[in-house]
Amino acid sequence: MCYNTGKRKESKSVLLIFTLFITVFTFFISTAQESEIKLNINLDQPAKSISPDLMGVFFEDLNYAADGGIYAELIQNRSFEYSPVYQPEWHPLKFWELVKLGDGDGNITVANMRPIHVNNPHYAILTVIEPGEGIGISNEGFDCIPLYKGEKYYASFWAYQAYMGKMWGRGDNSKPMSVTLRLETQDGSVLAEKKFEIKGRDWTKFEADFIPNKTVPNARLVLLAHEKGGICLDMISLFPENTFNNRRNGLRKDLAEAIANINPKFVRFPGGCLVHGQGIHQYYDWKQSVGPVEERKNSRNLWGYDQTMGFGYYEFFQFCEDVKAKPIPVVTAGVCCQHAGSSPGRGQEGLPLEEMPDYIQDVLDLIEWANGPADSKWGSVRAVAGHPEPFGLKYLGVGNEDAITPIFEERFKMIYDVLKEKHPEIIIIGTSGPFHSGPDYDNGWEFANELNLELVDEHYYVNPTWFWENLDRYDKYSREKAKVYVGEYAAHDHQNDKRNTLRSAIAEAAVLTSYERNADIVQFVSYAPLLARRGHTQWFPDMIYFDSSDVHLSANYYVQMLFGQNNGDEYISTTLSEQRELKLAASTVRDSKSEDIIVKIVNGESSSQKLKIELIGIKQHEKLSVTKTVLTGPNADSFNLDAKEKVIKPVVSKISVSGSEDITVPANSLTVYRIEK
Ligand code: AHR
Repeated sequence: MCYNTGKRKESKSVLLIFTLFITVFTFFISTAQESEIKLNINLDQPAKSISPDLMGVFFEDLNYAADGGIYAELIQNRSFEYSPVYQPEWHPLKFWELVKLGDGDGNITVANMRPIHVNNPHYAILTVIEPGEGIGISNEGFDCIPLYKGEKYYASFWAYQAYMGKMWGRGDNSKPMSVTLRLETQDGSVLAEKKFEIKGRDWTKFEADFIPNKTVPNARLVLLAHEKGGICLDMISLFPENTFNNRRNGLRKDLAEAIANINPKFVRFPGGCLVHGQGIHQYYDWKQSVGPVEERKNSRNLWGYDQTMGFGYYEFFQFCEDVKAKPIPVVTAGVCCQHAGSSPGRGQEGLPLEEMPDYIQDVLDLIEWANGPADSKWGSVRAVAGHPEPFGLKYLGVGNEDAITPIFEERFKMIYDVLKEKHPEIIIIGTSGPFHSGPDYDNGWEFANELNLELVDEHYYVNPTWFWENLDRYDKYSREKAKVYVGEYAAHDHQNDKRNTLRSAIAEAAVLTSYERNADIVQFVSYAPLLARRGHTQWFPDMIYFDSSDVHLSANYYVQMLFGQNNGDEYISTTLSEQRELKLAASTVRDSKSEDIIVKIVNGESSSQKLKIELIGIKQHEKLSVTKTVLTGPNADSFNLDAKEKVIKPVVSKISVSGSEDITVPANSLTVYRIEK
């Protein structure tokens, strides 16, 4: 027994010593591990010049991004151009209702005999058989029309008197016909109204300001006629006065401000696939997007709905100017989309070669419209619209994600040769197909190198892990060849139904540190897609979601915003030591204007990490004032839900640091230290 007891005692103490040893050993190991992760900011080494324009945005009208989106028009189908070509159940009167008040009787029909303009062929005829208390038409906008008490709205419509009294015979046009334009609630209470007199047979524009007496989330606009007869109506429109920068025909302030807050240095537009369109002659025609809105040509856009062109090239360039971003329009390379579904089953086709000179002339005209003197043919169109000064166009995208085939190469080269001869000052951006690698990517780059292109557009929508595994992609690119524009990228978190998870946003933050490090050759980058209307979202994920009255910012948005607001023009060598397979990334830039130094640290791990930051070259004890911003959330799967408090949003604090600092970066986070001069 004793022996046994002694043995047990002995083994107990061995166990105790062993446990103690393991604990002490683990403590030393973990302390050693913690202090091993060093983030050295090598301020003692020469900084590298980088693109000051790295962060920008890419705008494409998909997910109702333009009409029903950023374009502030509140009326849907304002010009009666909806058609079954857009969607099978759509027609020119879609989203319009006949209104009969009191004992009134009448109807609405569609006509195209005498349009305002050939580009705007359809209009409505409101026929009043018996006026009662009014016969009219109403519209509830895109899902609904939110109106705010005391705010000013700008309404307009075009009309002429078809006839008074009976339709046949010569008609009596000697007297004006009175109509009422009214904003009202769903149950018909009047929020604001004005009367107009329609005279004569010429199309005339009527306009007035309205100030609703109540805030309602779902108002409607009603136009009522009060005399027997027929009135022709078109371009019935309602805008808030309070648009971004108070522009007429302007942009929704909340959405435009959200984009402006990214501090974009450029805007790529009007799209990716939308540019080359479906079928060979369906490409986006910039000429149809300028001039008076009633003369612009509605069409079905590639994403299967209406494109009024109200938010057209003039408005794109104006927006760029308002947010101090460089405009980067994209034109088709003379080929349509290669995807069979998008090109009626025929894949990529080229414009007939005999049509190429006219098409190339359109591209030259675009440059004249943007940059030419106010008395030039196309410069005068810009000047008449209100911008006599040139817009200063410098970059032009030719092609989008095209299959690099002989059809493509032949047409691209035709465009390229003429542009280089006539406009050597314009930098042409080529394309390397739809993926980060593969035949189109290889051929696109080879073709770009043959032509000596200055910039090539790359696109990739990939899973978050791909970004983490490819952070050295551009470290390996040649510094002697074309520079890179990452025109479309996003992390698609397939394990979460492609939601805007924190995991995806943090992977994008990580890749952005690699873009910054390589911004000597990566000149521009833009996340895609930018905007998506709830209920009309065709592509996931997107950066900014919205409905009629609210804007919902994703975690991915905040990453873009933090990099955009904390950009620089010099890169400072930044080294992370001993990462041991950890998902950690960092970059440092300097803004030579403010002289601020900005350090960004990304932790993609599900646990916080301890780091020692060494600002090498700075006096160790010097206290530096820092704005620290942390973006994180409950876990990698979290995402910001609409209408709920955001779980992922930046938290800002003011701190001071010395040249050597122990810090902890939270799990799944982006931390930005802005060290103020
Ligand atoms: O961003 C959405 C689409 O993705 C773009 O239209 C196209 O260029 C890409 O395939």
